[in-house]
Amino acid sequence: MSSNIAQLAVGATAIVPLVLLVLAGAVVLLLRRIVADDQDGHHHIAPELEVAYKAPPGKDSGLTVFYASQKGHGRRFAERLVASANAQGVSAAAVDLTGFDTDRLVEFQRTVFIVATYAGGSDVPGTEPFFNELTDMSRDFRVEKTLLASMSYAIFGCGNSEYPPKDFNAATRRLDRALRLLGARRLVPRREGDDADNALSEQFDEWAPSLWRALGRGADGSDGSSSREAPKRTAAQAPPLSQDL
Ligand SMILES: Cc1cc2nc3c(=O)[nH]c(=O)nc-3n(C[C@H](O)[C@H](O)[C@H](O)COP(=O)(O)O)c2cc1C
Repeated sequence: MSSNIAQLAVGATAIVPLVLLVLAGAVVLLLRRIVADDQDGHHHIAPELEVAYKAPPGKDSGLTVFYASQKGHGRRFAERLVASANAQGVSAAAVDLTGFDTDRLVEFQRTVFIVATYAGGSDVPGTEPFFNELTDMSRDFRVEKTLLASMSYAIFGCGNSEYPPKDFNAATRRLDRALRLLGARRLVPRREGDDADNALSEQFDEWAPSLWRALGRGADGSDGSSSREAPKRTAAQAPPLSQDL
């Protein structure tokens, strides 16, 4: 019995150097890979991610109004915006972010996000995968910081200032930050809508004209030809939306 134990102990001692050798080999291979990446001047992205994160040339030239909404305010605002655009002959679509594949964001050029915040500053239930993945991408050193450079965006938040300041419109702020970190261009300042006085709808109607102007349209989404007000644009803003989008 004691001789068996002695034999086992000797066997285990012989395996230890072998395991150490294999581990050392793995470390050397890993270090060589990292050095090769740095010499290239950029970090490589894993091949499977490369496919997902490569920005294709813009496929969409209309206006896409993404929304995250549970009680329906955000969805209704999105539909209103789309209706104004369509009424002016501008192609536009409202897209629910519930279940939306984050990797597809690179396909969109002119976007609006109408986003509600829920308990404890959280995302609308069902939209967490989209927002979490976007935030992860914005922090991932392997994802190009120009990934969304061909995208311009505007954000209107649906929140309520009766919630603690850190939670008020928190989802909206996270989204804005992630989009900027990925190189997207902001069309107009983020508007943090406040439902506290039941005036969200009025706030949205106040905000929408600034968006249309940034897009080179009249305050109501028209092409501006019948409007007295000259469209205000800055160099950083997107070119006008044309009728034939
Ligand atoms: C259960 C619950 C939790 C909420 N939590 C927050 C919050 O943490 N921060 C915030 O700004 N608004 C919060 N709100 C307010 C909503 O965001 C606001 O009512 C918004 O207009 C809802 O938009 P929706 O109708 O598009 O879902 C909360 C509302 C409810 C009902």
